[in-house]
Amino acid sequence: MTVHDLPAVNVVIHASQFPEKVRRDLIESLRQRRVNHKFHYDSVKQTQKWLALHQACSPTRNDADCRAIYEKGFKAAVAQIKAKRVHVIGLGCGGGQKDTRLLKLLKKAGRKIFYTPGDVSTAMVLTARQTALVVVPQKNCFPMVCDLATTDDLSDILVTRHTSLVTFFGMIANFEPQIILPKLASLVRPKDFLLFSANLAPGNDYAAGVKKVLPQYDNPLTRDWLMTFLLDLGVEHNDGKLRFKIEDDRTNGLKRIVAGFHFTQARRIEVDDETFDFHAGETIRLFFSCRYTPERVRKVLARYGLEVCDQWIARSEEEGVFLVERRSPTRREGSVGVQASACSDNL
Ligand SMILES: C[S@@+](CC[C@H](N)C(=O)[O-])C[C@H]1O[C@@H](n2cnc3c(N)ncnc32)[C@H](O)[C@@H]1O
Repeated sequence: MTVHDLPAVNVVIHASQFPEKVRRDLIESLRQRRVNHKFHYDSVKQTQKWLALHQACSPTRNDADCRAIYEKGFKAAVAQIKAKRVHVIGLGCGGGQKDTRLLKLLKKAGRKIFYTPGDVSTAMVLTARQTALVVVPQKNCFPMVCDLATTDDLSDILVTRHTSLVTFFGMIANFEPQIILPKLASLVRPKDFLLFSANLAPGNDYAAGVKKVLPQYDNPLTRDWLMTFLLDLGVEHNDGKLRFKIEDDRTNGLKRIVAGFHFTQARRIEVDDETFDFHAGETIRLFFSCRYTPERVRKVLARYGLEVCDQWIARSEEEGVFLVERRSPTRREGSVGVQASACSDNL
């Protein structure tokens, strides 16, 4: 029996997800009244609720046209990457379905493939690994658990010897761009690529577009998923109300949908020896989702030296896939490079 036949898997757990750190993050979330999104994917129950929600509401599961924009993006990335060996780094990989479709195409094109599924949830990382094993040899698969929001050494721990293709699908909405994008940018070296997808506000009127997608969040499945975090800490439904609203993120020129629980009566939460008193009238922010437009994606990425060289937008205009590379130092600051880029014919 070799090590590869053992009923065990080596998973790297980054210090950002060590129990003591997770406990401190939880306390910080309660103290600041702003929940780190990772706490919505913590338990098996939450993961199941999220998967049910994803199955029911996600355009990639239910809209063939939305699936098609990913396929086009994957094909373009495969055509663009000339290297023989490609290491796909799936950040926030979830169940790994999208990364596996990409890996299949890379393999079909004759590339030797390597895969690092990375997520805050061990269950997701193991699921993504299992999904990918239909194409990736076990010895080329390196699962990693980490909190992308609090990790500062991503480029040290994710060094690859081969060309990297970083994927960041359905993630940007739940992060402050100024926190996550420098980390993402540090992983994309010259000759590496980033495939990135974003939830968009449809139409020409940004504010109206964000308003239009609000019902995709304010629905029973999402409410049930988000409330699990509070209920598991001892909050009760009749302690208050979960409300959704649209807020401005002035730093980044973005609008975001925010879910907050407004307490209408006092509630004490205890975590180990820490006590948190929520008074009537107080709010805890449970979740936010920034909506972008293709222009806003390009602009925000450009601030971190990343350039969109091709993009595919769903007919609904509610989701976009972007192929991104490190901006060449010779290119002028702020130029989108429609003609200049080697892979820009869809812009
Ligand atoms: C919206 S899902 C996207 C999953 C997948 N990329 C897809 O497109 O289907 C968000 C994923 O991000 C993970 N996640 C949430 N917060 C995270 C964090 N701070 N660091 C790393 N992963 C995180 C969740 O566990 C979940 O798998």
